[in-house]
Parts: sequence; C-alpha cells; structure tokens
Amino acid sequence: MKTQVCIIGGGPSGLMLSQLLHLKGIDTIVLERQSREYVLGRIRAGVLEHGFAALMREAQCGERMDKEGEIHDGFIIAHDGKMDRVDLHKYSGGSSVVVYGQTELTRDLYEARDRMKGVVIHNAEDVQPHDLKSANPYVTYRNGDEVVRIDCDFVIGADGFHGVSRKSIPRDVLKEYEKLYPFGWLGVLSRTKPVSPELIYAKHERGFALCSLRSQVLSRYYIQVPLTDTVEDWSDEAFWAELKRRLPAEVAAKLITGASIEKSIAPLRSFVAEPMRYGNLFLAGDAAHIVPPTGARGLNSAASDIYYLYHAMVAHYQNGDSTGLDKYSEKALARVWKAQRFSWWMTTMLHTFPDSIAYDQKLQDTDLAYLFSSEKALGSLAENYVGLPF
Ligand code: APR
Ligand code: PHB
Repeated sequence: MKTQVCIIGGGPSGLMLSQLLHLKGIDTIVLERQSREYVLGRIRAGVLEHGFAALMREAQCGERMDKEGEIHDGFIIAHDGKMDRVDLHKYSGGSSVVVYGQTELTRDLYEARDRMKGVVIHNAEDVQPHDLKSANPYVTYRNGDEVVRIDCDFVIGADGFHGVSRKSIPRDVLKEYEKLYPFGWLGVLSRTKPVSPELIYAKHERGFALCSLRSQVLSRYYIQVPLTDTVEDWSDEAFWAELKRRLPAEVAAKLITGASIEKSIAPLRSFVAEPMRYGNLFLAGDAAHIVPPTGARGLNSAASDIYYLYHAMVAHYQNGDSTGLDKYSEKALARVWKAQRFSWWMTTMLHTFPDSIAYDQKLQDTDLAYLFSSEKALGSLAENYVGLPF
C-alpha cells in the first residue's frame, strides 16, 4: 500500500490529523492496534480548551460537540472550608472551555473518517516504522499471518504513551524527562445528576478530590489514592463516603450517589520526550508527552501538536515549504512545556503529598491565598486553563 502520511495510532490525535489533512487533499492511512469498540470503550477526561473545540469545527466534526457539550465559564476550588470560584471568562478575556467527553469526541472523529471514506485499519498487530531517516520511510504491520507494507512520505507517531513510535527513535537521540507523583486518581463514572453545574477541585488534608461531569445525567468524580490501592479496595460505598469527607459540607450534603458504571485508577505522571521529530517521523500527543490530569491539559497539549503538524504538512504539500516541518519539534515543545508547568503547579498546589514537610504545606496554603487575592494570578490560571494560544 501507499499513502502520503502514515499515522500510527487511532486516538484523538491521529484521527484529528487524518481528518484535517484529508480535507486538504492529503492522503493518510491510520493504523490502530485495538478494535474500534475497545478504543471507544475507554473513559477519558472531558474538558476541551477553546482551541481544540475550534479544531474540531475546522475538521467538520464539531456539530454534536456544539449541541451536546456544555460551555463552562468558570470552576470552583474548594479549600480551607471555602469555595472560591475561578471566573475563566472574566480573567481570560472572554474565553471558556467545553465540557464534552473525549470518548464522544473520538466517536465523532471516527464517524467523520467513515463519512469521508478515510482508511483506518484496526487490529493492526506489530506495527513497525522503518527507514525513518530516508526520504522513503515505510511502516509494516501484521494482519494474521500476512505482513503488510505501507510506503509513505511521513510517519506520524500518534500512538500514545505506550506506543511503538517513540521507541523507534535511537536512545542516543531521544531525551526523556519524567516525574512520577506518589499517588493516583481513582475515578468513578455514575449515571447521576452532577453535584455542581461547574467543576469543583477540592484540596483536603485526606487528599484531593474532583467533581466533574459529562452531562446533566452523567457524573465523573475522582479522589486521590495511594499508588498501592487497587480498584478492588474501593467498593462504591467506600468511594462515595471518602468523596463526601473531602468535599465542603454543603456540597457533600447535596451529592447524589449511585452505582458506578466505570471505576479505574490512573497513576499521575509528567513526561516529555525530546525531540519530537526524528528524520521523517513526527511524534504527536501522548506519544511525546503526558501530564497529570489536574490542569485538564492532556488532550489540549496534543491539540497544538496537531495544529502545527497540520499546517506544516499543508505548507509542504501545497507550497513546497518545509519550514513548518523543520520547526515543528521546537515549536511544539515550547507549548508542551508550558502545559507541563501548569499541570505540575495545579497538581502540587492541590494534592496531599505523603512526605511533605510543614514548610511545603504552608507554601501550598500561600499559593491558594495568593491566587484568590490577585487578579493577575487568577489571570495566569485562567489563560492556561482555557488554553495558551497555538
Ligand atoms: N500500533 C498501533 N496503534 C497503537 C500502538 C501500536 N503499537 N500503540 C498504541 N496504539 C494506539 C492506542 O490503542 C490508542 O488508540 O494509539 C492510540 C493512542 O491514543 P491515545 O492514547 O488516546 O493518545 P492521543 O491520541 O495522543 O490522545 C491524547 O488521550 O490519553 C489521553 O490524556 C490523553 O487526552 C489525551 C489524549
Ligand atoms: C474529567 O472530567 O474527567 C476531568 C475534568 C477535569 C480534569 C481532569 C479530568 O482536570
């Protein structure tokens, strides 16, 4: 087989790029290791910055998001018995975020790819990029006993943190930066009315908690747990009781509980791989960087990679101008690191660290006190949360 751009990974990053390039007449093939059902069964985060929402519309995939997604102009930080609101709209100069599940967004992207007869190959086993430094790279995968070869101009590594693309960059070229946090988030999805119309991030000495939502009938809640905990350690009853303990009394009193329809634990990790280009391989999204979820930056730091790659590819194919491709890694990483900084800061300010000393705790309290006493500090939070410009 032959294509212009071979995309490894059919998550939001790979599908979005495939869709955008298709609309500009650039041919792509997407190779996905899992089945579509598996990909669409994964529960992921649900906050989209306005820049990502705009990209969805440009990709002609924004219709359902605009109908069913909720625009949020602010969120709450509960701390020290107070409920302080961050007015995103006011402090970001009129911007906001869209609450829309990443699973739904992925479904919309798949439907768009189907509509346009885009090629997405599922259950592609042993995907392997080759000859990345040459002008004629290719990708192989296995379909049962048959090995299939795809010749292309460029390979995009959009295969997430555990994918094969990053690993095909030689060790002496790639530099990895990683920070592991000594806790995870236990998440529960339940078919219940959300406790609050806006998200509540709660700092509590027993550990952080988050009240989020997917719609007015579907809630998503999280609590910070030790890395040694397993899902089996947490019955629904135990989860709700612990969540209530960590929320302000007036919120806990209103919380509607119900059976969990999904429950999982995710460790918190920060990670960046540099450079994001090796020869004709370009990394995008979780393949190159991940953030702890506290700043809602996961999908959003993938968004700028896609935006830069999309424009760079279009300039290359339409005008023979490769400066965007040459500058990709540097440009993408500059924004990636800002999302890293913001996610680290939100995580550090709001969680309970098992080994923290009294001094650190005082600084956490002071960070919050400063935040809610300074319009400039709120402005900084807001501009990062709604998304820095691409
Ligand atoms: N071959 C083919 N596909 C692969 C391989 C492989 N070797 N390894 C992984 N994949 C697939 C995964 O099955 C997954 O569907 O690549 C896809 C990567 O998708 P994501 O992990 O969703 O990453 P990305 O598209 O960059 O989306 C970033 O997802 O994890 C969240 O917080 C993250 O919101 C962010 C978003
Ligand atoms: C979610 O709804 O899953 C969610 C929302 C905000 C975050 C993280 C996760 O910061």
